[in-house]
Amino acid sequence: MKVSIIGGGGLVGSSTAFALQCGGVVRQIALLDVNQELAEGQALDLLHGTPSTADQVIQFGGYEHVPDSDVICITAGLRRKPDESRLDLINRNTDLFVSILDSVVQAGVKSSAIVFVVSNPVDILTYLAADRLGLPENQVFGLGTQLDTIRFRSLLAKELEVPATQLSALILGEHGDSMVPVWSSATVAGLPLDKHPQWTSALASQLFTRTRGSGAEVIKKKGGAGFAVGIAIRDVIHSIALDQDRILPVSSVQRGCYGIRDVALSVPTVVGRAGVVDRLEFDLWPKELQGLRNSGNVLRQTLETVLRRVADA
Ligand code: 2OP
Repeated sequence: MKVSIIGGGGLVGSSTAFALQCGGVVRQIALLDVNQELAEGQALDLLHGTPSTADQVIQFGGYEHVPDSDVICITAGLRRKPDESRLDLINRNTDLFVSILDSVVQAGVKSSAIVFVVSNPVDILTYLAADRLGLPENQVFGLGTQLDTIRFRSLLAKELEVPATQLSALILGEHGDSMVPVWSSATVAGLPLDKHPQWTSALASQLFTRTRGSGAEVIKKKGGAGFAVGIAIRDVIHSIALDQDRILPVSSVQRGCYGIRDVALSVPTVVGRAGVVDRLEFDLWPKELQGLRNSGNVLRQTLETVLRRVADA
């Protein structure tokens, strides 16, 4: 499987490439970036590690890599400022993103190609990609709240001093301020999280608040996410590459799941080689369902503004 990473020279793109290299599953990794020198440097640095990782082909360049790619991962975009919300970023990134989509279409994609959006605000840009690429809708989706979900799990596990791999918790909705913690299904070692001896509702609130602010916290401390977002992206791309049908909180255009339509956000989604294989409407607490629908409303308002802006462009 060939994965092309648009924005592969940047922190998110190169971290994704490194995560895929360490994962050893995909066969070809191509770094595409407007800064060719940077893409070449990242590719060379990855190449140097190949004898100790996996027999993969590491490439760099431009849109010439798109036509034979199985997964096109779009990470390019301007980074948020520490005090800037993801939605505020939209205008600065929409124009850039639309030009990337047009270049992808112009280059030509395989009929089976998956376009995986990471650039922010990811839910809005995922909708734009699904709308403009001319691919079947199941083949275009975004990272959504998969990164928020592993951040959430990591912070809960650290606080409760349990193995992070045994802590299961989920974030759904917007990859942004209206994201929704799903406490109803949270467990540690298969036992209800809220029955853990150290559990309190204050702790729950504090850790979700920190999760929601983690993007800005990392930007403030080190300029932007790299390691964890690369791992989150790897999780999704491996589910595609291995046709695992994992249930992941990724962003896709909704067609009625939880009563939500015509907006992209994260619900429990079965991810396989065909992309979005299914969406599973697990029962949620009423306040969780309300939060999810609120996410849809918040995103829909912004989306309508963006769609008008793109149409007028
Ligand atoms: C974050 O939350 C990059 O949006 C991503 O850090």
